[in-house]
Amino acid sequence: MSQIRKPANRFKAKKTRLVKSFLIKHKFIPQGRIILPGDKSIAHRALILSALSCGRTILKNFPIHEDSLATLNALSVLGVKIRRNKGIVLVSGKGRQGLKSPGKPVFVNNSGTTLRLLLGVLAGVSFKTKIVAGKYLSLRPMSRVNIPLRLMGAQIVAQNRGREEYAPITINGGNLKGIVYRPKVASAQVKSAILLAGLFAKGRTKVIEQLNTRDHTERMLKVFGVNIIVNNRSITLYPTQGLNSPGQVYIPGDISSAAFFIVLAAIIPKSRVVIEKVSLNPGRSGIINVLKRMHAVIKVSTSQANKPVGLEPWGNLLISSSKLKGAVVYPGEIPSLVDELPILMVAACFAEGVTKIKGVNELRVKETDRVNSMVVNLKKMGADIRVEKDGLMESIIIHGQGGLCGAKLESFGDHRTAMSMIVAALAAAGKSEIDDIGCINKSFPGFLKALKSLE
Ligand code: S3P
Repeated sequence: MSQIRKPANRFKAKKTRLVKSFLIKHKFIPQGRIILPGDKSIAHRALILSALSCGRTILKNFPIHEDSLATLNALSVLGVKIRRNKGIVLVSGKGRQGLKSPGKPVFVNNSGTTLRLLLGVLAGVSFKTKIVAGKYLSLRPMSRVNIPLRLMGAQIVAQNRGREEYAPITINGGNLKGIVYRPKVASAQVKSAILLAGLFAKGRTKVIEQLNTRDHTERMLKVFGVNIIVNNRSITLYPTQGLNSPGQVYIPGDISSAAFFIVLAAIIPKSRVVIEKVSLNPGRSGIINVLKRMHAVIKVSTSQANKPVGLEPWGNLLISSSKLKGAVVYPGEIPSLVDELPILMVAACFAEGVTKIKGVNELRVKETDRVNSMVVNLKKMGADIRVEKDGLMESIIIHGQGGLCGAKLESFGDHRTAMSMIVAALAAAGKSEIDDIGCINKSFPGFLKALKSLE
């Protein structure tokens, strides 16, 4: 992180450890440059594929937070040797054979990506593993992964409530066969679980998506030498005798973390923020496209794109304060900005005119019901926001009024809700207080420090 200066008393935490509630007293004008920790989605995949390959892989700009540690710890419990030192993680993989029955349940905390991708990996090994999740993840639906993995031959027992399945999950894998599968939900986690299982299945595995979702797994599999053919929304993977480590993988900055700073700089007058080396994967950069349509002043420079190992495009962003206008977000765009919808709702409140975000249903099954958490919080700040139902499709409608007012807000224990509301509060008129912001540690423990560096 560049430009870290002593924090001025513009906004301060009520408790010194910044884990309980957050009190925002004054506005500030964000200015400066930041480099963000590596992308969370890429980090999970880099760890998993390094563990499955033979040899050492160095992961650079690796982000340390609760979710990445969930994958790291789960793989360690399964017998993979992993060491970490600051932003570098070293994985010593021994191939699929290197994974050993842990003899105790594997705890994945609240990381949905860890749980769903790990199920894909464990479907391919012939021992039984019980996976236990934290309190938020235990409420999230798991049939979407269990169903295709069972079709491939894995034996899976999960908690049943109504017609849905939840963690804890016990999986007994091995002897899989490839399938052709069309997931019912647009989910990169589901696609990735099937592809990971397909690595060690008999015959080819094909996933046909209804909407394009993030393709980090496909890109990373190619880097590790797997025969995978991507034809728009159809992905064909051929089983492998073994993955080849590229030696090192550079993980560009997390665009989902960047989104909070992009919106902050766009909605606060006189701001100017540069975000360096951020991931610009087209499956993730929907937030930039939509904000540009909303007249945000964002300059993207990709001259360095593709230089780092990892085949992931990245670049620098320069964001200046902007006069935002409302826009329509279409269902086909949702997967490319699904995690950024909470902060996009904040941006829409600062815009002039109507923003309609169509097809937000998946937001209901994230760490919390983010439709509810954002509507409740933004209404408290005076927003004109409502949910509209058209058949099965839910949309959010916001009549932007060019600003918000301070209020007493809640994180609902959800990291992205917490960070979105901190951004909203920093740009709003008057004081705000946000309860329970310790959840930020799930994806971005350095968030407040990064904010302060822009003061
Ligand atoms: C992720 C995929 C998305 C996203 C999540 C990370 C991934 O979930 O919301 O934060 O790394 O594959 P879905 O696959 O459920 O859409």
